Amino acid sequence: MNRRAWIKSASMAVGATCVSQRAFPQTAAITPLTSSHGFTNLSINENQFGPSIKAISAIRSSLVYANEYPLDSQERLKQLIAEREDVSPFQVILGAGSSDITMGAASAFSAPGNNMVSSDPSFHPLMLWAKKFGVEHVKIPWTSDHQVDLTRIEESITVDTSLAYVCNPENPVGTLANPNELYSFCKSVSERCPVLVDEAYIDYAGDVNELSMMRCVREGLPVIVLRTFSKAYGLGGMRVGYAVTTRELAEKISSYYVTGIGCGCSHTSLEAAIAAYQDQEWLATVRRRTAESRKYLCNYYESVGQSFIPSVTTFVLSPTKQNSKMIADAIFGAYNVKVSPRSYFGQDYLRVSMGRMEQMNKLTEALSYLL
Ligand SMILES: Cc1ncc(COP(=O)(O)O)c(C=O)c1O
Repeated sequence: MNRRAWIKSASMAVGATCVSQRAFPQTAAITPLTSSHGFTNLSINENQFGPSIKAISAIRSSLVYANEYPLDSQERLKQLIAEREDVSPFQVILGAGSSDITMGAASAFSAPGNNMVSSDPSFHPLMLWAKKFGVEHVKIPWTSDHQVDLTRIEESITVDTSLAYVCNPENPVGTLANPNELYSFCKSVSERCPVLVDEAYIDYAGDVNELSMMRCVREGLPVIVLRTFSKAYGLGGMRVGYAVTTRELAEKISSYYVTGIGCGCSHTSLEAAIAAYQDQEWLATVRRRTAESRKYLCNYYESVGQSFIPSVTTFVLSPTKQNSKMIADAIFGAYNVKVSPRSYFGQDYLRVSMGRMEQMNKLTEALSYLL
């Protein structure tokens, strides 16, 4: 083939890809069933359906611009988030994963003698960092129906409380707070200290606009809503998260971590996030397929008399009679499937992340020998 013919056929191929992406929405996952480390990982809430094909395409196209600092992509992503959430771009901060912002918030609100209040068990990296700055972690157990105990959290706030943290939906249990109750909590507590609502799993839970505390931010309350591209958007390895809050708090938190000050997310990661954020069709597919897998696992648990806590997310927590570490090790040894053993207040649990149906079949086959 001569050079001109090659250029012509190459540009036709690119054109065909664009047309096919537009004409045929993505219906199937393109991520392999086995992780890059050789096993099925249902232990850390990675999205087994993987990212949008448009995000992969954006990753590829971005590579030749690896020489550029991501100033433009950073601003474009902030702008898109601000438009969708109806806030100013100055209220949006980005991080290399939402953990990056969590670290910034831990530093920004810490001082020796302060305390921070959260549910327990919960997702605790923020508290672990804050402890290093001399902050006491006040832990409030769940209610008897495995909900975040908003009443007791509010009662525990003192003049020394510098932050209240609520994970909604709650990790590791997968329950969701009543949106009206959480809204009243945020309104009332934020008069005394900022409230950080970690919505890492909110995309799985239903109508995000109804469930999210973003409305508190729009009302000007000192509430920080934390989101991530690592979960439903399937970009855990790309490391992009964001928070939306008041301009004042955005500036304060930003000054305490690398991405807040300068460029912490790569150009490639940001381009992937921008493409994924605009592909709401794939997000809806991921949400639907995750719900199908969750239903399949819960039906299986019911059929064998194994109790579990109803979840709205991509993981299900189930109390076990036997040692959960032993069960998890056996599943891994025999089936190459990794799940997460937990133990809270003397009770063992398995936390299983949802996967594709083939992966769930493999898991239930393994469980059938063990439960
Ligand atoms: C509740 C919750 N928040 C935040 C994160 C951090 O996610 P990332 O740093 O990948 O955005 C996780 C990760 O598992 C999580 O479970």
